[in-house]
Amino acid sequence: MIIMSDKGEGKKKEPIDSNRRAIVVGVAGAIAGIAAGTVIGGNLFPKTITHQITEVQPEVKEVQVPVTKTVTQTITKEVPEVYPKVMVANYNQLTVGKPVITTYMNYPIVVVRTGKPSMNGVGPNNDVVAFSNVCAHMGYQPLLYDPTTACLVCPQHYSQYDLTRSGMQVIGHPNQYLAQVYLEYDESTGNIYAIGFNRLVYGAYNNVLQGVSSSSSSSS
Ligand code: FES
Repeated sequence: MIIMSDKGEGKKKEPIDSNRRAIVVGVAGAIAGIAAGTVIGGNLFPKTITHQITEVQPEVKEVQVPVTKTVTQTITKEVPEVYPKVMVANYNQLTVGKPVITTYMNYPIVVVRTGKPSMNGVGPNNDVVAFSNVCAHMGYQPLLYDPTTACLVCPQHYSQYDLTRSGMQVIGHPNQYLAQVYLEYDESTGNIYAIGFNRLVYGAYNNVLQGVSSSSSSSS
């Protein structure tokens, strides 16, 4: 279809090709569309922005943690098995039939003047003896002295020990003698000293080792 142009006087109207006009309009629209798309698209899909980030790593230092070590050491200590010499009585202060209760190396003992010669006895008549005051049966203490028989009697189960025969059990449950204390006698002073046991004290596995830490000071 051909349209006549009426612009310009004196000029000869030229026919306008409608197809050409459509092409021009289409190109202009396309350009406008691209421009608009660029703007809109830019807003919808923002550019990726790269930031430079510096990460700060904490400084790691090696710290020496003190370690507590438990060291078990076996110390072998030689303890001489020597009985101390300890004064336990004075002959001039002893009365026949009246026992003196005291201790030797922290073991309870009884010193007795029996009035007749006794095994391991000391003094002018060899009648002073000393014994553990703990029953050899089940450890009852103290034992009671019977002057009529010269025996120590256990009130627990009525066992008896003859003090003139080194503490021999004469009746009752024990299957052993009562532990006797060895004595020394000083004629010049009348002092009587304990110098050891002749057998194991009831409850002890070693008379010296168990008595040494708390033993009385020795004297001479
Ligand atoms: S405890 Fe002494 S006789 Fe049994």
